[in-house]
Amino acid sequence: MSSQVVVVGASNMDLTSYVPSLPKPGETLHGHCFKKGFGGKGANQCVMAAKLGASTAMVTKVGKDVFGKETKDNYERYGINTEHVLEDDAEFTGVAPIAVDDAGQNSIIIVNGANDKLSEADIGRVEDLIAHAKVVITQYEIRPETTLAALRLANKHGVFSIFNLAPAKAEIASELFTLPDIFCVNETEAAMVTGVDVQTVQDAEAAARALQDKHNAKCIIITLGPQGTYVLPKPGDGDPFHMPATKVTAVDTSGAGDAFIGALGYFLATDPSLPLRTAVAKAGAIATVSVQQQGTQSSYPDASVLASLHTE
Ligand code: RIB
Ligand code: NA
Repeated sequence: MSSQVVVVGASNMDLTSYVPSLPKPGETLHGHCFKKGFGGKGANQCVMAAKLGASTAMVTKVGKDVFGKETKDNYERYGINTEHVLEDDAEFTGVAPIAVDDAGQNSIIIVNGANDKLSEADIGRVEDLIAHAKVVITQYEIRPETTLAALRLANKHGVFSIFNLAPAKAEIASELFTLPDIFCVNETEAAMVTGVDVQTVQDAEAAARALQDKHNAKCIIITLGPQGTYVLPKPGDGDPFHMPATKVTAVDTSGAGDAFIGALGYFLATDPSLPLRTAVAKAGAIATVSVQQQGTQSSYPDASVLASLHTE
């Protein structure tokens, strides 16, 4: 059976401490709350698409440990195809110790573990799954070769692909810019690859232009948190636009970018006739819902939100 959205990426166990302020070097501080939750950018994006109602498959690697088993059960709970949730004999399941302060700011440590064992050969074995998908989504939380292998297969079969360069590195393979149909980054990641300090919508425009002019990227999406999203379509595919976000009080922004990408994947996969502008507006509205609750996946709305999405 084919899946509309196929996500190739990392699974982590998020270990989130809620603290009055983010710890400084050498500082010990008391947190006031702790939550264990399912995370990993790929995992979050896949769960978001599944919660909204897409048929989904997750291609990932976990350890043979408690977190790995719980992760697989979690995917199953959302009806995600887990045939390619692989297990590594030696490595532990990826973990992400996260701190969230009272202002909703976060800092995240990622320890990859088994995620680094997802290989090009593993991707070769899911060619059929990728070939029959509507949208393939990848990030930069697994080995670059593995991400690249997934994007190459999507390209080979003419399947629409979204690449989220998160977490960012300054130097990346040129194909990671040119292969994906959508290249999506947040303001920090955009700054890292372009050298443009992205604070404003105008800065985002400059960074997006640099990505297209220097790196030959197709459509570029830069998420700007409370400032919304800037979109530079592929040349010839319409005008660039800025989609503002609704003002809300953020409680926890971790995983909001993943909510946006997973939701975008859902809209593009399930309604290919939807204009990009509408898909971006709706995905942004869903990310806005997610920042108003603690946690990553647990803060993502399900399909019941679709009827009441207020955009433009
Ligand atoms: O984007 C948020 C995610 O980043 C968390 O779920 C954490 O696992 C890290 O991968
Ligand atoms: Na949240």
